[in-house]
Amino acid sequence: MTLQNVFDFHMPKVVRTGAGSFLTLAEEVEKFHPEKVGVISDRGLEKAGLVDRLVDSIDQIPDSIVTFTDTQGEPTFKLVGDVVEKMKKEACDLIIGIGGGSALDVAKATAALMDKENITPYLNGKLTIESRTVPSILLPTTSGTGSEVTMNAIFGDEEEQLKRGIVSASLLPDVSIVDPELTISCPPRVTASSGVDAFTHAIESYVAVKANPLTKIYAEKAMKLFGPNIHRAVHNGDKDLKAREGMILVSLFGGISLANAGVGAVHALAYPLGGKYKIEHGVANALLLPYVLEVTGKTCATEMVQIAKFLQLGDYDENTHKALGEVVGYLYELLDQLDLPSSLSELGVEEDSLNLLADQASKVERLLSNTPYNLSKDNIAKIYRNAYHGLPQMRREEVTEC
Ligand SMILES: NC(=O)c1ccc[n+]([C@@H]2O[C@H](COP(=O)([O-])OP(=O)(O)OC[C@H]3O[C@@H](n4cnc5c(N)ncnc54)[C@H](O)[C@@H]3O)[C@@H](O)[C@H]2O)c1
Repeated sequence: MTLQNVFDFHMPKVVRTGAGSFLTLAEEVEKFHPEKVGVISDRGLEKAGLVDRLVDSIDQIPDSIVTFTDTQGEPTFKLVGDVVEKMKKEACDLIIGIGGGSALDVAKATAALMDKENITPYLNGKLTIESRTVPSILLPTTSGTGSEVTMNAIFGDEEEQLKRGIVSASLLPDVSIVDPELTISCPPRVTASSGVDAFTHAIESYVAVKANPLTKIYAEKAMKLFGPNIHRAVHNGDKDLKAREGMILVSLFGGISLANAGVGAVHALAYPLGGKYKIEHGVANALLLPYVLEVTGKTCATEMVQIAKFLQLGDYDENTHKALGEVVGYLYELLDQLDLPSSLSELGVEEDSLNLLADQASKVERLLSNTPYNLSKDNIAKIYRNAYHGLPQMRREEVTEC
């Protein structure tokens, strides 16, 4: 029997937030009595000194610590295979991920796959991961993906030139430590793109087919915190800890909502851009958001009125047809204000590849079916064309009806 209006809600066992919460990592590690800890991160984090800081803070606890940092970001399925092999060989009994979504996704998958003989069917979605091999602790250093609380891990498929996600509740960590101080060194461009990515999670999950009353609470709070904090975090992020605190909550709340309600078409259209052109996830989402929303938002006028309020764009209760245009305009202008690209042509995407991209995006059924608008392949191709040229339709013409 399928019951309507019955929802599950998944979270890690512990989510610890607050400036300085990193200092409690050692006591959390101790609880697992590990003999060998595997730390997964990337070169950027190593350069910023965060990997050494983490290792120093726990090095009295296990017999030894193995680190993996030999990656730049936006991981592939092949990389996951290599890291799983390494951590398996070392027989690590606790995995810690520190970094943005890239490092955290590899850490989540590794902790869950170390006891599997052949990991390929789990990575290509033929088998679902039913249990995690070893405990895991995650510490985000960007305010974007919310990976520390999601059931997803996203990787690039080099052969198919696509990005794909694996989804399982077993990917949730035992402990997430969400400390804004770890994001202070995050560079402005990553702060901008991952920040708009977090907003994308909030807005897409708020209007998602699978949205429910609990996820809406988190998505709403994320959207309300976004406006007052994003500019300060991007333009003054090395000094403004309050803005970093605000943004890491946007990311956390957006992630909780995304984990339980899913996201939609923006992500479906971003995957082929990541696969074929290696455009970073946050940059692709930030750019596509106004272009996708101006089409899909037409079916959710009531939500758009609410979202305009969350963003403090005004009260459109009496003029519901205007709210969508205001939200799209705000998001489009944000690209310029945050020094993010505003057209696909700027990012080196070739015009003659737009149909192929539309073909690939139209196959991301998991996300398209969660979008409150039935997007055809032609709709998708049109969205890519608008995004290729820049300036959404709504900024070119006054929209009079939804
Ligand atoms: N699991 C999920 O639910 C989920 C959701 C959305 C996106 N993703 C995936 O996450 C990845 C993107 O993650 P992201 O946007 O967080 O960026 P990222 O992890 O790729 O990091 C981007 C760059 O910023 C650097 N960096 C990160 N934090 C830093 C800090 N504090 N100081 C200095 N440098 C820092 C990294 O070294 C890296 O070079 C993509 O692969 C995307 O597909 C996952």
